[in-house]
Amino acid sequence: MEELKLQGMTRKLCHELYKQWENDESIYMDMGLFKPYVYNEDVVNRYFDSKQDSSRIMFVIMLSGKTIGELQLKQIDYDKKECTLSIHMQNDKVKGKGYGTEAERLAIQYAFEELGMLAVNADTVAKNVRSQHILDKHGFKFIREEGDFKYYQLRR
Ligand SMILES: CC(C)(COP(=O)(O)OP(=O)(O)OC[C@H]1O[C@@H](n2cnc3c(N)ncnc32)[C@H](O)[C@@H]1OP(=O)(O)O)[C@@H](O)C(=O)NCCC(=O)NCCS
Repeated sequence: MEELKLQGMTRKLCHELYKQWENDESIYMDMGLFKPYVYNEDVVNRYFDSKQDSSRIMFVIMLSGKTIGELQLKQIDYDKKECTLSIHMQNDKVKGKGYGTEAERLAIQYAFEELGMLAVNADTVAKNVRSQHILDKHGFKFIREEGDFKYYQLRR
């Protein structure tokens, strides 16, 4: 596999990522809310600024020097030693090639080994079986279904 790594998100990489971004139907329970993504510089600047908080680490997924996705460890609770993983690949061209699975593996490793977490949480909309399949492969346990969401947890 070409070299895949997680890198801290910067404003510049965030623009690079979102210039080639496509929204994905699988994260919309209500397809009435789905809209094709249109890049806007100001919106990306505001998005980047809104994600700068101490309970979140935002990574860009890089493949051979190019942005291919975004991965966040969020709701990091250093007392409970828990955080929540979220991931979204850039567009359909980079999906289904094993990159999402590998990025999640690296993020889980980072959460446990670098941040000292004891649990990583994740949630998906109920219909997102592709994402659930990957969580399953990483050993996440299904915790509960509530509303349109399914909740998972992986303990160290
Ligand atoms: C979910 C996501 C991050 C996965 O990344 P990816 O690079 O596309 O996934 P991978 O290629 O690593 O793995 C896909 C796996 O799902 C499987 N899969 C694909 N479609 C599937 C489906 N409809 N049902 C079940 N499994 C499916 C593939 O066979 C593969 O599993 P395998 O390796 O055991 O064969 C990516 O597709 C994405 O960004 N989707 C949109 C956003 C999203 O859903 N984010 C998660 C929110 S919780």
